[in-house]
Amino acid sequence: MSTAAVDRLTLRSPDDWHVHLRDGVTLALVADLTARQFARAIVMPNLAPPVTTIAAARAYRERILGSIPAERTFTPLMTAYLTDRIDPEEIARGHAEGVFTASKLYPAGATTNAAAGVTDIRHIDGVLERMQAIGMPLLVHGEVVDDDIDVFDREAVFIERVLAPMLARFPELKVILEHITTREAVDFVRETGPGVAATITAHHLAFNRNAMFVGGIRPHYYCLPVAKREQHRQALRAAAISGNPKFFLGTDSAPHTVADKESACGCAGIFSAPVALESYATTFEEEHALDRLEGFASEYGPRFYGLPLNEGTVTLIRSPQVVPELVATGDLRIRPLYAGETLAWTFLQRS
Ligand code: NCD
Ligand code: ZN
Repeated sequence: MSTAAVDRLTLRSPDDWHVHLRDGVTLALVADLTARQFARAIVMPNLAPPVTTIAAARAYRERILGSIPAERTFTPLMTAYLTDRIDPEEIARGHAEGVFTASKLYPAGATTNAAAGVTDIRHIDGVLERMQAIGMPLLVHGEVVDDDIDVFDREAVFIERVLAPMLARFPELKVILEHITTREAVDFVRETGPGVAATITAHHLAFNRNAMFVGGIRPHYYCLPVAKREQHRQALRAAAISGNPKFFLGTDSAPHTVADKESACGCAGIFSAPVALESYATTFEEEHALDRLEGFASEYGPRFYGLPLNEGTVTLIRSPQVVPELVATGDLRIRPLYAGETLAWTFLQRS
């Protein structure tokens, strides 16, 4: 990274290692907001129906590329949605053919479109064995969803009951614990072998669970895994700025319509894509660690995935921006993170 002046930040082009681009009219609205800031993105497969086949992933990749202006260089990296009955052969062949970069484990019922997820990790031992053999990363939504587990304990209990035993069975499996939210996750990833890493979102670095309850219920701050108490946010911030390559950027930008968020049963997900880099830059600056942002955003992810670093750069300037209240087209309305608020940094360009 170079800071030619304190008011300008230039980084090697970053990647988003966890994003929801959706489909149809939403895809058309949001895809380029990710592509303008990031050179590549790991695209989540939780569509309805989920992306479980090579053919579905190829078709979805084409739709993504079709929603981005032709002059933009952007590579969507596709993922396979694991189910109890997924065919290990399809996963391995998809990886060999360069279609599936990784597979995603959603515990059944854990989050948006996770109904078809895995009901018991033992059901996919055959796939995990195959993935371990070919070096294909497993991306994990790390929450147990049993009724008797407190919502705020779901991640810590998952690590103890599911993740640690799974790694004992598959010690060479490459695993990324996605969107971590707890001190327990930070400690686990730090202390486990080099094949285990984690992504951290901008929003989990920026606020704690109080944000959902400031003066009333604030559905736009609700996501899964849900934000935890302040000590956990502090652990995430320390991990992000530590320079430890096991921790890297993944926004988990997850757009839902305003109507679906502001509802008696509101959807989980925070739409951070429009201001992702500005948000991370704010956190790193608050921690006096802007010099660590490039490693976190642009180097550790590709190294873990075994991919080349990007060649280009992105530039942010210290110039206040008022974040739009809505990102919208026709009657589709999505509220971005920091809607109506003023941010100190503004994304200028990726080249
Ligand atoms: C995501 C979504 O809406 O697809 N929601 C979220 O709160 N993060 C799913 C997920 O990653 O859990
Ligand atoms: Zn997600």
